[in-house]
Amino acid sequence: MSDLALLGGTPVRTKIFSQSNTIGEEEKIAVMKVLDSGNLSQYVGSWNKDFKGGPMVQQFENDWAEAFGVKYCHAVNSNTSGLYACIGACDIGPGDEVIVSPYTMTAGAIAPLIYGAVPVFADIDEDIFCLDPKSIEANITPRTKAILIVHICGHPTDMDAVMAIAKKHNLKVIEDCAQSPMSTYKGKFVGTIGDVGIFSLNYHKHIHTGEGGMIVTNDPVIAEKVELIRNHGEAVVEGKKTKDLWNTFGFNYRMTEMEAAVGIEQLKKLPGLLDRRIANANYLSRILGELNGIIPPVVKEGCRHVYYQQTFKFKKDIIGVHRNTFIDAMKAELPTMVLRESTPIIGCGFAPPLYLQPIYQQRLHKCSFNCPRYDGSVSYEKGLCPVTERMFFEEVFTHEYMRPSFSKRDLEDVVNAYEKVYTNVNNLKAYEAKKDEALV
Ligand SMILES: Cc1ncc(COP(=O)(O)O)c(C=O)c1O
Repeated sequence: MSDLALLGGTPVRTKIFSQSNTIGEEEKIAVMKVLDSGNLSQYVGSWNKDFKGGPMVQQFENDWAEAFGVKYCHAVNSNTSGLYACIGACDIGPGDEVIVSPYTMTAGAIAPLIYGAVPVFADIDEDIFCLDPKSIEANITPRTKAILIVHICGHPTDMDAVMAIAKKHNLKVIEDCAQSPMSTYKGKFVGTIGDVGIFSLNYHKHIHTGEGGMIVTNDPVIAEKVELIRNHGEAVVEGKKTKDLWNTFGFNYRMTEMEAAVGIEQLKKLPGLLDRRIANANYLSRILGELNGIIPPVVKEGCRHVYYQQTFKFKKDIIGVHRNTFIDAMKAELPTMVLRESTPIIGCGFAPPLYLQPIYQQRLHKCSFNCPRYDGSVSYEKGLCPVTERMFFEEVFTHEYMRPSFSKRDLEDVVNAYEKVYTNVNNLKAYEAKKDEALV
């Protein structure tokens, strides 16, 4: 094998990987039909038949309901706005606490703050990186109103345990399924097990509409509230004769007809795209799992992992260098971008623990933290969630080399790069020492 590219050798591959473009003729035709109709959105923020949106939005919702076996679906313009709508629809407000994950995209913890509530971070499970039920239970107080779980990277949370805790303490369960469409837990789709679930349709996701989201629930009360919050609820409640006005003030979270038309076509492709993604991930897990010290993703019994990202644990004591050094070397061996995307397709874990962000460190949202109705004292200290911190700073790395667009040949290059770095890891020690010296 030649020298590591990080140390001046020839990289395994320089040809950029092809973009995972799931948009094809079907979406183009569907969008052209909408454009020809001139009807790009049919929403009206008052109580009449257009309150629920136009034909494409309604068809997309019906198709999603059928595909996921759920009663009510509401298309929204992002998973973020969907999370906000769900917090509102679960009647969460000032003085309340919501248990959230520190190891997720930032919107998952901000959502309670939007309604004046306080996010409380529980720790994650060290195998699947979703909230650990033991830590959820340890963080429950008389103020806890809901648990906002995230099926992170595509693996389901331990739903039996979460639902048992919720039942015991009378809490709502909100499932953030942004990264886990058609991931299943004991035969049920995630998003349909708790009180309400939200899917993302942004352009990074398994399928997409550019930006977008879908809220799913079997609860008619939550469904009605979500619908009001999505579309200027306060202007509608009189006409609709709504009795429960708590949190029904609305926003504009509406999806357009063109996005919905794309979504209808994308949804048809989802099962095939998932099969390909899972097959690629299994192949990489099998081969890379043979490298002592690199631990491929765990798939718990009864669960279907849909691999938004493929997570590995890195054992520094066995391999001999820090994970970050190994990832630097991997980045030098392979192109780490896919065309216009600026997100690297290999990196050091998912996201830094959210409670370390300035907004929490400085308690910037005073309406939540200083609210006279709030009688708790939440902690956001470093060290709060030791497993999350260990995973992010030391152990986990993620890649997206299992995307459905990756061919057998692409996967072989990926394997060659890992094997090359792994077998030459001793050569990285001097590089690592120099890097450490530079930091002193
Ligand atoms: C877990 C999780 N939650 C929420 C979001 C927000 O999704 P959106 O960009 O659709 O608002 C994302 C997006 O990356 C996500 O990964």
